[in-house]
Parts: sequence; C-alpha cells; structure tokens
Amino acid sequence: MPDYGKKSYWDERYQDKDGNSDEPFEWMCGWDQLEHTILPLLPSRSASMLVVGCGNAPFSASIHDAGFINSIHVDYSDVVIKQQRERFPHVDFRVGDCLDLKEFEDSYFDYLVDKSLIDTMMCYENGTETTKDLFREMHRLLKPGGRLVQISLHKEDEVEPFNYTEGCDFVCTTCKLINLKLFDPQTTRKEVSDGGLYHTFAVFDKIEGTDPAERERIVSQHPLTLTNALSDETLDEVKKVLDLEKLKDPRIISWIDCNRPDDLFEVFEAVIEDYSKILADVLEEDHASLLDQIKATKMSPTDSSTSSSTSSSSTSSPYSSTSPVTSEDFITVD
Ligand SMILES: C[S@@+](CC[C@H](N)C(=O)[O-])C[C@H]1O[C@@H](n2cnc3c(N)ncnc32)[C@H](O)[C@@H]1O
Repeated sequence: MPDYGKKSYWDERYQDKDGNSDEPFEWMCGWDQLEHTILPLLPSRSASMLVVGCGNAPFSASIHDAGFINSIHVDYSDVVIKQQRERFPHVDFRVGDCLDLKEFEDSYFDYLVDKSLIDTMMCYENGTETTKDLFREMHRLLKPGGRLVQISLHKEDEVEPFNYTEGCDFVCTTCKLINLKLFDPQTTRKEVSDGGLYHTFAVFDKIEGTDPAERERIVSQHPLTLTNALSDETLDEVKKVLDLEKLKDPRIISWIDCNRPDDLFEVFEAVIEDYSKILADVLEEDHASLLDQIKATKMSPTDSSTSSSTSSSSTSSPYSSTSPVTSEDFITVD
C-alpha cells in the first residue's frame, strides 16, 4: 500500500520530479453525488466552513460555488495548495496541518467537512491515536452546536467510536451512504471495480458549550435522517442489481470476484474484445473479423500469416497463442 500517512507521499503524488501536476482526483465521490445528503445538513450558506485535507479534488470549488462562500480549504501539501489556487483563484485555499491549525482560534467554524482525511490519518504511524488528535482539533475549531460532516472509506463501526474521543463532546449519527458513482455512466470500469457499494457518512454535532435547552434540542435530533442512506434491506436489493449488472457485462467482475474459472474466462474474453476494438481502430480494420482472427489464428509477432490481414505489416499483435483461445488454455480445471 502507498505511504498515505507520509507528507512526502502526497507531495510526490501531486507533482512528479519533472514538475508535472497530478490529474485532479476525487476520493470516493464528488459534489454531484454528495449534495443531496450534505445540503439539508448545512442549512446556512453564509456559515463559516473549513474543508480539511482538501487535496486536488474539484469538491472544494464545487462546495464553494454551491454558495458556501465563507469556506476555507486546507491541506498540508503546499504543492497541492499552489495548484488549487491556480485552478480556482476565487476559492480560499490555505496550507495547514489539520492536527494543529493554530491560525484559527477556538470555536471559529460553524461547519467542518472531511472527505477522507480521516482515512489518511488512520494510515499514520500510530493511526488511531493520530485520528483522535484530529477529532480533538476539529472539536476545538467548532463552535458549540457546530457540525462536522465526514465521509470515509472505513466501516461505520471504525468511525463511530471516535465520537467518544477523550476531550470531545459530540453527538453523532452514522450511515452507509450509497456510492452513487457506481450508477453514473461516466464512471470508468476501473472505478466500478475499485469502489465499494457504499461509504461511511457521519455527522458529529458538538454539544460542549451549548446551554441545556440547546443541548437537548441537538441530541433529540439524533439519529438524523440522512438522504441516500442505505438500509440493510436496500443494501441487499442493490447487491442483487449489481449482480445482474455483472452478468450483463462480465467486465464489471473484478479480479477478486473471479473465484470460478468461468468468471475468469469471461473477463479474459471481454479484455480481448476491448483490445481488439482499439487494434481495429489503429489498423483501420473491421472489428468483428479482427476479433475472430485474434481468437482463432496464430498471432505471433513473427508470424507472417497475420500481416496480410493488417494494413500495416509492421504492427505486431499482443497475442501469440498458437491455437484458438479456450478457458483450458489458462486455467486447469480438475
Ligand atoms: C485521501 S486524500 C483526500 C483528498 C480530498 N479531500 C478528496 O476527497 O478527494 C487526503 C488528503 O489529506 C491531506 N493530508 C494528510 N494529512 C494531513 C494533515 N495532517 N493536514 C492537512 N492535510 C493532510 C493529504 O495531503 C491529501 O491531500
């Protein structure tokens, strides 16, 4: 696993040795997928907001442009903050260590938003203790009655215990938030197989410093009703739908799901089909006949029998099988 817990990892990820910037990347989901859940929870657009560990995600500009003009977006990688300032000069980006944001006094913010910083903190050496420090810092920064919304790759039962971090006085609701990216036609096949069915969404309300009536009002709202939360019954239904999708398009089967030889063969066939489409474009050949050739003929780069079927005889095939491809070619079935 990459060294997510090290600043050097992030700096090097955001800019390579030749000075090229990394493509913007949205961990888990973007504003389009989250807005219906988040907006009812953050009713005041003029409130002060801090987005922690913002990275190079377009999310920061999106939430600002959704009307949260008093939002500040912090990351400890000066490399990424410089890039974000260039991309979105109208948004307030700052360099800062979210474990120690001295520049903001206690109770400075109405709202805090964390999308996956918690996951990075868990990767620090001594991850759980560091994550508790993060919660204490976020608790310090929130006004009494202020709200932290958080989305994480960790399971609900790994996130919820931070509600009881020593020094914090929160009340919290967590849920499984459906991963809407799975249903977006723009989502690539790789993202589909990488992404889980849901992520953990959590809302922490700071009750320290509130008067008894306010405290009672806040506590009585929990558990909150969260838009796009998955109940266990819905989760089962969604799993069934996705299983059907997998049957429709074997490419959606990820490698770890390939526990039957037939699954593996289907994926392999799908890969051949994808590859032959690219090859057909390059060679300006008919895709169907090229696919037949790839499946059925010798395709050794040195085999002259293939060159007659291509407009460019110097282009070699990636396949060098000597007979039609069958599942037995790469799987031994007892
Ligand atoms: C998993 S990425 C999430 C990026 C973005 N929030 C998103 O959802 O796409 C975690 C980010 O947290 C930043 N980070 C890690 N530790 C930090 C710290 N102590 N203070 C501020 N930022 C930190 C990293 O530089 C990285 O950009």
